[in-house]
Formats: sequence, structure tokens, C-alpha cells
Amino acid sequence: MIDGLLMNFQAKMDARLDILLTESGQLYDSVLSAARYSIIDGGKRIRPFILTEFYKICGGDDDCAMNFAAAIEMIHTYSLIHDDLPCMDNDDFRRGKPSSHKQFGEAMALLAGDALLTEAFNVASKTIGIPADRIVKALNILAENAGVSGMIGGQVIDLQGEKTGLTADDRLLMYKLKTGALIKVSAQIGAVLAGADTELELAAAEYGENLGIAFQLVDDILDYEGDFEALGKPTGSDEKNGKVTFVKLLGIENCKLLAAEHTKKALATLNKLQGDTTNIKELTEYLLERKN
Ligand code: IPE
Ligand code: IPE
Ligand code: MG
Ligand code: MG
Ligand code: MG
Repeated sequence: MIDGLLMNFQAKMDARLDILLTESGQLYDSVLSAARYSIIDGGKRIRPFILTEFYKICGGDDDCAMNFAAAIEMIHTYSLIHDDLPCMDNDDFRRGKPSSHKQFGEAMALLAGDALLTEAFNVASKTIGIPADRIVKALNILAENAGVSGMIGGQVIDLQGEKTGLTADDRLLMYKLKTGALIKVSAQIGAVLAGADTELELAAAEYGENLGIAFQLVDDILDYEGDFEALGKPTGSDEKNGKVTFVKLLGIENCKLLAAEHTKKALATLNKLQGDTTNIKELTEYLLERKN
């Protein structure tokens, strides 16, 4: 069932992104064209799916959250474009096709990422049908978690760790930040936009944080034993770049156990919510078993 739900959502998200990133016949359209190449018709869309599900679970009943959902996908996609650059992970494939820099060159890939990051805040701030105080709060949560104390901070620890090595605590912090932060706020922002109280908002964030850690553990497992065709991105990237992931540190079986443990914690947190959590439960279980 989750496959069908995600497929429907992907089509809906693509339609919204198509409108939000329409080329306008200007001289600078080449950057939009590069941004569209990476974001349209690609990826699982789990962050925007989580955002809209939490919006519904916490009482939202229409499409008002879709601009924020598109914004989180834009930030995520920009992070992937930059993550693949030769100066970062140097990976040539993403979402089943050549990475942005292979297709458009490094300079345009940089600009496409920059454009998506900036456009994300542009479209999120144009949300209509939700009270302004909730929008401002959600924008702040998004900015903090995409930035230095969130995703960027995690990428910095990741890059430094290649050279200096990391303690287990630092590695967990890196997972929480580079991947966990955007997944955590997907759930949290859905709750905030729906007007959830503090307790519900914290439960959403706690769910997202645990799912985010499990998600990166599975990403590392797939990098080690996954299939290029299914993944649409290279395997063995972590080994190539000298990353000491939890797979390397704990061994593959213990790493799977750790991912299952964080998935269990995420599922337990859902019991604190009152709305219909069927879809989000299914998604959470599916993400532990995913092959891409
Ligand atoms: C990949 O994220 C990068 C990580 C943060 C682990 P996804 O696995 O969600 O990638 P897409 O969006 O489906 O391509
Ligand atoms: C991704 O970590 C973190 C990001 C913020 C993009 P990885 O470098 O492991 O992601 P993939 O495996 O390239 O998708
Ligand atoms: Mg990386
Ligand atoms: Mg990478
Ligand atoms: Mg990876």
C-alpha cells in the first residue's frame, strides 16, 4: 500500500514543482533547467510525504502545506547536487542519471544547488491558507536545521571525519545533523503548520530524529551491499572516500540491528499522536527494508 501512496504523492509533488520552477524565457533559464533536471521526476520524496502526513495527522485538512513540502524537497535536492560534486563525495550518478555536475558542469551544478536552496525559502514564505505566525515559526525551524546547526554542520563533520576519524558520539551527531535534521523537521514542520501544541510538536520531532538516524544507517548499509541499478547512485562511495561509517565500525549485522532499534523508537513515538498514523507507520517500516 505504501508504494501506491508514495507514487500518488510523487506525481502530486512533481506537478507542484513543475509550477514552482517554471522556466520563464529569460536568459538565465539554464540554471532553472539544471535545477529541474535534478528535482523533477526523481527521488522517493519521503521528506515532503512525511511533512504532509504530519500536517494531516495533526489536524490540517487541505493542500496548504504543499509549498513547504516542495521547499523541503528543494533543500534536500540541493544538498544532493552539492554532495555529489568532485570536491565532496565525487559521485557521477544520482537518481538514476548522471549527477548535475556531469550533465551541466561544476559551476552550473553549484548554481543549481544555490538556486534550489534560495527558491525553497521563496516558495515556503508564499504559503497561503495558514496563519502567518505558524509560517514564520516553520521558516525558522527550516532555516536552523538546513544550516550550520543542522544539515550543513553534519556535512562538515562528515568531511572532517574523512581525515581525522570520529568518535562514536561524533558519528551519531553527524548522522543526526546531515540526514536527521531535514527528516526531523519534515515531521515537526507538518505539526507546526497544523497548529499542534508543544507536546505534539516535540513528539513529531522525536519521531523524525529517530527515523533520520535509521535512514542514514540504511543508506550506509545500501552503499555497502546495495545494487547500483536499484539505488540509482553508486555503491562503494563511502569506502572510496575513506568514510568510517557505522557499517565499517560495527559490522553490517550490528548496523542493521542499530537501524532496527531506531526504527522501533520512531514507531513507539507515533503512539503519542492522536490522528491516523497508518500511512506514516507503513512508511517507517518500509524505509528499514528499502532497496533504494
Ligand atoms: C539520500 O536521500 C541522501 C541522504 C540524506 C541519505 P534519499 O535516499 O532520500 O534520496 P532520494 O531523495 O530518494 O533521491
Ligand atoms: C548524505 O550522505 C547527506 C546529505 C546531506 C546529502 P551521503 O553522502 O551518504 O548521501 P548519498 O549516499 O550520497 O546519497
Ligand atoms: Mg556525503
Ligand atoms: Mg554522498
Ligand atoms: Mg550514502
